[in-house]
Amino acid sequence: MTITASAAWKAIEAHRQSLSPVHLRDFFARDPGRVASLSLSFEGILFDFSKQRMDSTTLDLLVALAREARLDEWTARMFGGERINASEDRSVLHVALRRSTGPFPGEHLDVMPEVLSTRRRMEAFADAIRSGQMLGFTGQPIRSVVNIGIGGSDLGPKMLGCALRSISHPALAVHYVSNLDGAQLAPLLQTLDPRTTLFLVASKTFTTQETMLNAQTARAWLVANLGDAAAVSRHFAALTAKPERARTFGIRDDAIFPLWDWVGGRFSLWSAVGLALMIAIGPHAFADLLAGAERMDEHFRSAPYERNLPLVMALIGIWNTNFLGATSNAVLPYNESLKYFPAFLQQLEMESNGKSVGIDGQPLACASNPIVWGELGNNGQHAFFQLLHQGGRLVPCDFIAAVRSDYPLPGHQEALLANCFAQSAALAFGKTAAEARSELSRSMSAEALETLLPHKVFPGNQPSSTLLLSRLDPQTLGALIALYEHKVFAQGVIWGLNSFDQWGVELGKAVASSILPALDNPALAEQFDASTRGLLNFSRQHLA
Ligand code: F6P
Repeated sequence: MTITASAAWKAIEAHRQSLSPVHLRDFFARDPGRVASLSLSFEGILFDFSKQRMDSTTLDLLVALAREARLDEWTARMFGGERINASEDRSVLHVALRRSTGPFPGEHLDVMPEVLSTRRRMEAFADAIRSGQMLGFTGQPIRSVVNIGIGGSDLGPKMLGCALRSISHPALAVHYVSNLDGAQLAPLLQTLDPRTTLFLVASKTFTTQETMLNAQTARAWLVANLGDAAAVSRHFAALTAKPERARTFGIRDDAIFPLWDWVGGRFSLWSAVGLALMIAIGPHAFADLLAGAERMDEHFRSAPYERNLPLVMALIGIWNTNFLGATSNAVLPYNESLKYFPAFLQQLEMESNGKSVGIDGQPLACASNPIVWGELGNNGQHAFFQLLHQGGRLVPCDFIAAVRSDYPLPGHQEALLANCFAQSAALAFGKTAAEARSELSRSMSAEALETLLPHKVFPGNQPSSTLLLSRLDPQTLGALIALYEHKVFAQGVIWGLNSFDQWGVELGKAVASSILPALDNPALAEQFDASTRGLLNFSRQHLA
């Protein structure tokens, strides 16, 4: 039976129909205890979802849906190391990467010895760079680190590197290069000293076109500048599940850090893929990050469903998408240090759950992941918030803020928080025609007022949740990311899909490799469609 045919689904649908006319204003007016019943806290995180268009009954019915989908069994299977990533025949064990003890997932399959020995090697490597003891080919200490990777081998460490900049090593520069476009790597190389630069080639597969081309260009630059191919072994390290490919590239064994097929790329920042971050913030802070995530793992496994933060967040998403019809979800950090968080979440959510075929190979009977998009909230206010307020579309929002700032300029943090809280309130409660009329009547003639009035009404009822963090420290960030990871997993279970494969990215890669030679060979262009041929012809003329 599909989940949409279940009694639990139908009960939610019936409940939705009874709730439809209720505005968020009414929800708040009806229930003074609403914020207490529709908010959760976890250590340094407050999750206020009272501004979602739901009540406690909605939550109870959604919890029943999670039970119907047998979330507890799937969770046990994931944490137990079963091969729940069926289409790739792999276990899903990124949670092991946060742990400090074994055996895990069990005596039958204990991944902890290799996890812990890799972590110890990373720590020694990071410490050697941080202390200035790691020397390059010419005997000078490494002072710049460039992570070359894309997708999951870039977004997580880059996002956290920015979020934790305030505690990063002051004398080390850590850069991230992902794009094929030379406009990213070329200007960076101009600023680097090859004698003091280390490149980390982060690629689970060690075949990704973007990463390999950037790595080859970096290697050529290094050899050209240091005048000796032997320099490569002192200036490159690899973070990969394919060590033999890294060896062929010229990377020495003690600079190859493994990850495993049971770590999905978008869940890999906790693994060797996090090395650039560990170098920046230090092994202790990295351990705190892991500890925060592990605390969230335990919460997800053990907290009752009604108080289970990742699950409640997942259920809110299901409610908004499958019952209220939302097609997108905005992520709005009110914190400059979280500027890469929307991009990180886009991969985590959309690459995991952007699917329309279930784990059983059948078409899904309902919509899956909404489009995740977002931007720093304060900047967005002066750009696209107009549409959120008056565009007439349902766009659920995640507001994210940290109470304490790492950069406390007088008055800034208070103003930032005030804007964050103001926007979620304005979106939820809006402004009625009566309220607008009474405001305008103080300064306008009756005729002018009626002309302007429709433009001054805010319908409100735009749902949002607010994640308020005490501060952006490694522990809280670890918990925050694990929270979203488990949200994604729980939603995937309810939608009945495999959150851990990503076959949808393959077609474009294959087509790109067949198009590439046609850029300078017109005969090869003939096999393509008319549009591609036209694009190739135009490019060929201008490349020439
Ligand atoms: O193309 C998508 C993808 O496979 C992502 O899933 C992954 O995070 C990214 O490419 C990078 O892959 P790799 O780490 O193997 O270079």
